[in-house]
Amino acid sequence: MSTNSQFPKRRPRRLRRTSAIRRMVSETQISVDDLVAPLFVREGIKEPQKISSLPGIYQHTLESLKIEVDSLIKRGIPGVILFGVPKSKDEIGSSAWDPDGVVQLALKELKESFGDEMTLIADLCVDEYTSHGHCGILSSDGTVDNDATLEIYNQIAVAQADAGADICAPSGMMDGQVSSIRNALDSSGHNQTIILAYSAKYASSLYGPFRDAVDVIIKDGGDRRGYQQNHANLRESLIEIKADISEGADMVMVKPALAYLDVIARARAEVEVPIAAYHVSGEYAMVKAAQANGWLDGDSVMMEHLLSIKRAGADIILTYAAKQAAEIIQG
Ligand code: PBG
Repeated sequence: MSTNSQFPKRRPRRLRRTSAIRRMVSETQISVDDLVAPLFVREGIKEPQKISSLPGIYQHTLESLKIEVDSLIKRGIPGVILFGVPKSKDEIGSSAWDPDGVVQLALKELKESFGDEMTLIADLCVDEYTSHGHCGILSSDGTVDNDATLEIYNQIAVAQADAGADICAPSGMMDGQVSSIRNALDSSGHNQTIILAYSAKYASSLYGPFRDAVDVIIKDGGDRRGYQQNHANLRESLIEIKADISEGADMVMVKPALAYLDVIARARAEVEVPIAAYHVSGEYAMVKAAQANGWLDGDSVMMEHLLSIKRAGADIILTYAAKQAAEIIQG
């Protein structure tokens, strides 16, 4: 018997022999075109503030925000998503739709400065603006009132679109939020405003550093499990995603990303619209913390995260590592 017959003829390692061959047969690439950078803008500060649990990320002033967006444009990043940190909060989160609210001012300034060179996405929610920290307004029993919250979301959508948002991204997980804001946008002359729905958004502990970034503490030790999804469930995500598409979502999102690759892959197999995935604050912070301890190579782990999210089927990746990844990709 020849030695050959003891082995299969096909030897997959041939295709891994050189870097050029590996590049040639690579099934997935990550490009700067896939990346969206989340940015925070805070009212009433004079200098950008570091966020200790998100190394490299800042609460920006309007001025420093503009500088950051300019540098992202130079790197070729096609989109940013904005989150506001208002000076004062109230029961209903009214600065979320105030034309002089910090995100509206930022949208206006960025649109005036950069036009369509940067796609401006506005996170559409009230949790950064409410004194109780929930994503909606509360009924007398302390639970979030779905339909009363929709009325508020409609006003926010119109305020964001008026200020220059290209995309509204409702993130509060209220039932019917997509059709509600689609109607509000269409009836206020904003039929070109895109809706990126946070469709499959889980009640995750991976949002911890984000809540530091926006100074949110949920009242009375509460949580969001009454409206965000149970992380035990996959099929429920498909119900949410399909419902949002039928309500008019142009794109849908899975969030978090890395711990939910099965959800991304299943969504990719079942729907045709662009799928975004949010590599959230905790996913980013874990890599940074381990890197700071010298426990792993932060750059290559970060790229492995992002490539895996792409491989699972995401078209768009929202990540705090957007600029870092662009620098790695472009050298
Ligand atoms: C809600 C919102 C949250 C995040 C994005 N939009 C917070 C939450 O749902 O508690 C989290 C993002 C992250 O952790 O990076 N406005």
